[in-house]
Amino acid sequence: MALNSRLIVVSNRVPPASGFESQDRDEASAGGLVTAVRAAMEQSGGMWFGWSGRSTRRRVTTGSTVRIFGRIQLATIDLSDDEVSLFYLGFSNRTLWPLLHSFPMRVVIRHDTYRAYRRINLRFAQSLMPLLRSDDIIWIQDFHLFHLGYELRRLGWRGKLGFFLHVPFPPAEIFNIMPWSRETLEALLHYDLVGLHDERYLHNLVDALDVELGGELNGDSYGYQGKSARVGVFPIGIDPDKFRPREYGQQHKLSNELGLAEVPDRRLILGVDRLDYTKGIPHRLRIFERMLERHPNLGGKLIYIQISSPSRTRVPEYVQEKEQVERLVGQINGRFSEAGWVPIRYLYRSYSQSELAGFYHETDVCLVTPLRDGMNLVAKEFVAAQDVDSPGVLVLSRFTGAASTMKDAVIVNPYDVEGTAEATYQALRMPVSERRRRNRSLLSVVERYSSQSWSDSFCAALQDI
Ligand code: F6P
Repeated sequence: MALNSRLIVVSNRVPPASGFESQDRDEASAGGLVTAVRAAMEQSGGMWFGWSGRSTRRRVTTGSTVRIFGRIQLATIDLSDDEVSLFYLGFSNRTLWPLLHSFPMRVVIRHDTYRAYRRINLRFAQSLMPLLRSDDIIWIQDFHLFHLGYELRRLGWRGKLGFFLHVPFPPAEIFNIMPWSRETLEALLHYDLVGLHDERYLHNLVDALDVELGGELNGDSYGYQGKSARVGVFPIGIDPDKFRPREYGQQHKLSNELGLAEVPDRRLILGVDRLDYTKGIPHRLRIFERMLERHPNLGGKLIYIQISSPSRTRVPEYVQEKEQVERLVGQINGRFSEAGWVPIRYLYRSYSQSELAGFYHETDVCLVTPLRDGMNLVAKEFVAAQDVDSPGVLVLSRFTGAASTMKDAVIVNPYDVEGTAEATYQALRMPVSERRRRNRSLLSVVERYSSQSWSDSFCAALQDI
């Protein structure tokens, strides 16, 4: 989409400069946000502002480093070791992440991490202000930067200001666990437009605004004490063409990667996630175990491959999750393995887009079963990578944003281990005509809600305000 103004995107994480320098776009993904924003920025050009990913021992002051990669200016700031630990590992990943994903028992409330969060949001604003032109459009991404819009307004920014939340917004009674819920909601009203992935999250946000502030929703604008923000749903997606090429299926085979012997009637189940407790990997392992218990005929033939990419490895909850997953893999393999057959293959590493596309291609059933997930792009990647004549089946948790539109997946409740095990078994036996019908319908959803349509629709709505 052609914008009348320069687009400024701000996110905590930005792609590493090395990713811009190399022409090879097939590096391991840095997550849905970075991939989708990058597609938008490459089309529109503009400035991308964020944390360099580096931390230093010394105190960091305001200011940024700007580098130019074609039509994109990449402006980054460093953080100190203490700031990373309080702002990113602490408040962002131990308070906001579990809160927004509705894991109240995991929410850590600490005043020092909140103060650091506010300081870093202010630092982002102070470092960004000198780089701005008055007719720029600013689009701020995700929960690390809830207060950035408010700080920019305080520093005098009067131009367009949008915000997009890449994770769920929880019910009000969960959001209010955070002692700073009211000021966070007030901060959101400094944006012109606030976007979410799903109607359910929008409903929760409006409810939280009502409970905490008691303002008023007029059409799609929420107003309170003279301020108002438009709120809307903009489901994020992928670029399906990056996963479609048939040759990936030949180049990158799971069976080669794992040295799997050719077994007649072998079936492959695949899970691909960051190693995060919201993804419900232990539940998924229990689901697989239940299938093997109930259907001994699968022995020797069924292999479940779990790719878990390392994530937030210094956060204690993630360390515990990894230990739990690895213990369970060991237990289940110990219980069921036979000569020539190990039922679970666990890969703790990241793969490139083309490798994943090849792996999806060879998979019979993809298990996308998070306990809570803002959208989940693995579900979309899997669908795009299928052979239309003989597609695999997507088993999808109802607790993902993707489930709202991908209704022709096999929709499951991952807390129900027994029910999901049976649904997965049925997915393995699904006739080809039914698989084709579902894949056609899912592919049309993936094509309709792409990364391009996501950024185009958000930027158009922001520009029109
Ligand atoms: O919003 C969630 C998200 O930003 C995803 O886009 C991405 O997969 C993940 O979080 C990355 O987290 P982090 O930047 O902490 O590695």
